[in-house]
Amino acid sequence: MNILAIESSCDETSAAVLSNGTIRSNVIAAQLIHEQYGGVVPELASRAHQQHIVPVVDRALTDAKVPKNSLNAIAFTRGPGLLGSLLVGASFAKALALALQIPLIEVNHMQAHVLAHFIEPPVPAFPFLCLTVSGGHTQIVLVRDYLDMEIIGQTHDDAVGEAFDKSAKLLNLPYPGGPLIDKYAQQGNPLAFRFPLAEMPGLDFSFSGIKTAILYFLRDNTKHDPAFIEQNLTDICASIQYTLVQMLLGKLKRAARETGIREIAIAGGVSANSGLRMALTQLGQEQGWAVYIPRFEYCTDNAAMIAMAAYYKYLRHEFTSQDVSPMPRLEF
Ligand code: KG4
Ligand code: ZN
Repeated sequence: MNILAIESSCDETSAAVLSNGTIRSNVIAAQLIHEQYGGVVPELASRAHQQHIVPVVDRALTDAKVPKNSLNAIAFTRGPGLLGSLLVGASFAKALALALQIPLIEVNHMQAHVLAHFIEPPVPAFPFLCLTVSGGHTQIVLVRDYLDMEIIGQTHDDAVGEAFDKSAKLLNLPYPGGPLIDKYAQQGNPLAFRFPLAEMPGLDFSFSGIKTAILYFLRDNTKHDPAFIEQNLTDICASIQYTLVQMLLGKLKRAARETGIREIAIAGGVSANSGLRMALTQLGQEQGWAVYIPRFEYCTDNAAMIAMAAYYKYLRHEFTSQDVSPMPRLEF
């Protein structure tokens, strides 16, 4: 049983092939064009998907040694994401499914980030909690089964990935700044500077305040010392990262306490952050949790996770009709 999956929700064009529950290939074409604009430009992203999709799919099929006529279903990301980007993947998937006369499977991108945990062992046991942290979302998800998930906490404003990227921009670092903050933070002192932790009710988050706090902090310090950022870059990055990680783990700890669940996972682009990975591993040991952290390749956007989600839908015959259209704000 072979599934071809396509991911095109933001600025990565990706295709993967899954055979009988196992990922055979996962090809990702990143779009470097956005760096010069300091963020993803939706129209440029759509065009780049249009250029990449055929070669990326061909590579995925070749790498997996699966010819098109051996495919049993085509999966695609229906949302959430950028409309123009989603349309490219959805249209391609529909056309191919129609041509091959095989079923079409729609996948929710955020559910797929969670299901990246089933690509390879060790896999979490149900029910588990998944902190899904990306450029567009910050969610604590209660996962009861492969396709039975509930968001029990989320951000009221910016996503944590956005907080990383916007902080990086204030430090004059190129987009996407998250990985660069991570890199510089590794050589800095996380307690060098203090930023306020937002107080939010229950399991919810807020990250817009920290961005403003960093803005004022940098403005005050560079007023008399224009070289302040350059001279303190590693300490500033380490302190920002420390604050963001504390905010995430504080709520995760509360979620574990309130639900009594000790199987804890992280997913999404920000789960690639070394500070978060280390702090969660340590917290897990203290709390007696079983902690699950995906391989880097499966943290940021990829089609392998879309294929994994599609596999569970395929087993349940959850297919999609040809009149489906993308949903930029698709919910669970
Ligand atoms: O899941 P993802 O690839 O795309 C979305 O669905 O949004 O997440 C992208 C986000 C960006 O904000 C990026 O800066 C952040 O993940 N990110 C990181 C790291 N790697 C990626 N943030 C902090 N540290 C990292 N190492
Ligand atoms: Zn994502």
